[in-house]
Amino acid sequence: MKQAAFIGAGNMGGALLERVCQGVPPADIVLYRPNRALGESQCARLGCTLADSGEAAVRDAKYVFLCVKPQVLKDVLTGLIPALRENQAAGGAPVLVSIAAGVTLETLEAILKEGGLDIPVIRVMPNTPAAIGQGILLIAPGSTAGEADYTGLTALLAQCGLLERVTQRELDLGMSIAGCGPAFVYLFIEALADGGVQIGLSRAKAQTWAAQMVTGAAQMVLQTGKHPGQLKDEVCSPGGTTIAGVAELEKMAFRAAAAQAVIKTAEKNSKLSK
Ligand SMILES: NC(=O)c1ccc[n+]([C@@H]2O[C@H](COP(=O)([O-])OP(=O)(O)OC[C@H]3O[C@@H](n4cnc5c(N)ncnc54)[C@H](OP(=O)(O)O)[C@@H]3O)[C@@H](O)[C@H]2O)c1
Repeated sequence: MKQAAFIGAGNMGGALLERVCQGVPPADIVLYRPNRALGESQCARLGCTLADSGEAAVRDAKYVFLCVKPQVLKDVLTGLIPALRENQAAGGAPVLVSIAAGVTLETLEAILKEGGLDIPVIRVMPNTPAAIGQGILLIAPGSTAGEADYTGLTALLAQCGLLERVTQRELDLGMSIAGCGPAFVYLFIEALADGGVQIGLSRAKAQTWAAQMVTGAAQMVLQTGKHPGQLKDEVCSPGGTTIAGVAELEKMAFRAAAAQAVIKTAEKNSKLSK
């Protein structure tokens, strides 16, 4: 029995696959994705096994990671049900793990039930920094997932970053920060680098310094436990240069824009869930 089957391994699934293959023997991981050429190069690099079909991948696997877009999830999952049933009939105890945004545990369980299958379901909301072991992964087990199902999953994902057990409501709200947030931060880093180029720095230096500065500032928040407002005050000398920049950001409603980005993604996610 394989430890995990990945159905899809694009931007997000690929990031998880990468780290999972570092934590357990890659021969224990099987992947299926329609683009065979991409699957072959991924498996050659990581050492995992490429399956010819989704059914073949899940027939003999414990954790089945559904890493497809929400729009195709129902069709893909429905197609896997007969093979999951065979898995069960052969004595396996497969667990479905979905990383899809906006697809609830109840929806996943209903799709399985329609196909006459009752297996534990767990939702995970990861982010792409998981690719380098710096992710934050929110994990919400469904009501039929046991403690062993949860701990087995956390063992598989241990190399991905910080794992946090949450309720489904927290997962859906938290995805606006954890899942979508990296895009907001990349935009910020790119904008800082643009500013650096405008004042005469090379693109490469401006970008590296901006990214390292964001890493350091984030670590200050995490490691000191201080309020970000206090940390900001510690950088701003009276009448100095930094406060002039902060004032400019306030004038441009930077704070409101960042908060609004979180609110809008939450609204979109809640529409997707319906
Ligand atoms: N991107 C993020 O930062 C992020 C964060 C949190 C959660 N998520 C969630 O992660 C999921 C995947 O997003 P993504 O950004 O990784 O998308 P993506 O890069 O487009 O990857 C989608 C994957 O699905 C595969 N796929 C498509 N049709 C399939 C089928 N019929 N059977 C099996 N595999 C199929 C694709 O394989 P081929 O390329 O081989 O066709 C590809 O590997 C989404 O549900 C999203 O909500 C994403």
